[in-house]
Amino acid sequence: MNILGIETSCDECSASVVEDGRLIKSNVVATQIELHKPYEGVVPELASRLHTEWISQVVKYSIESAGLKNSDIDGVAVSNRPGLLGSLLVGTNFAKAFAYALKIPFIGIDHIRAHLYASQVEHPLEYPYLGVLVSGGHTVICKVNSFDDIEVLGTTIDDAIGEAFDKVAKFYGLGYPGGIQIDRLSKLGDPNAFLFPGPSIKDSKHPYDISYSGLKTAAINQREKFLQKGKEDSKENLAASFQRQAVGMLMKRVRDALRKTGLKRVSAGGGVAANSLLREELSSLREGGYEVSFPSIKLCTDNGAMVAALGYRYLNEGIHDDEYLSSYARVKAFSSYKTRES
Ligand code: KG4
Ligand code: ZN
Repeated sequence: MNILGIETSCDECSASVVEDGRLIKSNVVATQIELHKPYEGVVPELASRLHTEWISQVVKYSIESAGLKNSDIDGVAVSNRPGLLGSLLVGTNFAKAFAYALKIPFIGIDHIRAHLYASQVEHPLEYPYLGVLVSGGHTVICKVNSFDDIEVLGTTIDDAIGEAFDKVAKFYGLGYPGGIQIDRLSKLGDPNAFLFPGPSIKDSKHPYDISYSGLKTAAINQREKFLQKGKEDSKENLAASFQRQAVGMLMKRVRDALRKTGLKRVSAGGGVAANSLLREELSSLREGGYEVSFPSIKLCTDNGAMVAALGYRYLNEGIHDDEYLSSYARVKAFSSYKTRES
């Protein structure tokens, strides 16, 4: 079964063809990063306009570069929630029209679930496992029982981890998108140069919740202090110290959750799963006998392949949407197929 996956939830216009949920035949990602750079962040109106201009060509190229024709496509999956509404609508409406024209089924996919599912394409783990979803908009620790059955154990109570990376990078003048710049700069700095505070939340009812706003503010204030005193700051040391704490806080929750749930497998997904320190720390869990899986870098950030792969799981079971499929800017974390509008 060849599934076309379409992803337009934010600033990447992507389409991919995946066979039987595992074989990635093409994964075209047209990034808008350079066009949003002058604004130091994604401009929603600009993003949706660019998706509108690019989507037809991106889809066409993804099918051609897979060595296929439109008639070889058996179904369409599209990220229809959550994200920038205008951007989501471009992908959703294109997917519906394309599927209708070809008389093939289509399905709307939760973008966040697709991120978490990405690791299953390349290095599948047996269920259940601990899921760690770390992106620009979400930070969730969960128990993944199947591709459609996910129990949220903890989430951020304020900023998402990627958002904290991006905001700190912006204040350090590192440009957009900031996560990758902090990662790069950290390699040149001393991670123990500054001791930034950890989260102050101690909520026994939600032991896996996490907070990034205190760390973000402390990292920003530290640079302000340098600037006020007219001192030379070391962006490398600041970046490395911030990254060490951001990843350390997350890993503490991951280790606690593994211990308390007794799960023996763990998988990460989302843009921040591309972070080199996080990948190192997750890999080190293998020494304790855990099975660890995370996607290759290309499948960490937004891409159509993860959408196609997860879409295959539903379409293969005969689950699909109808012409009334819409897009949703916000949904409950990991809204299930039946409850996604809630
Ligand atoms: O999953 P994603 O592409 O989009 C969302 O669904 O949010 O994640 C984007 C986030 C951004 O915050 C970006 O700065 C972060 O992932 N990111 C990284 C790295 N690469 C991307 N953060 C830390 N280290 C990286 N290497
Ligand atoms: Zn994403």
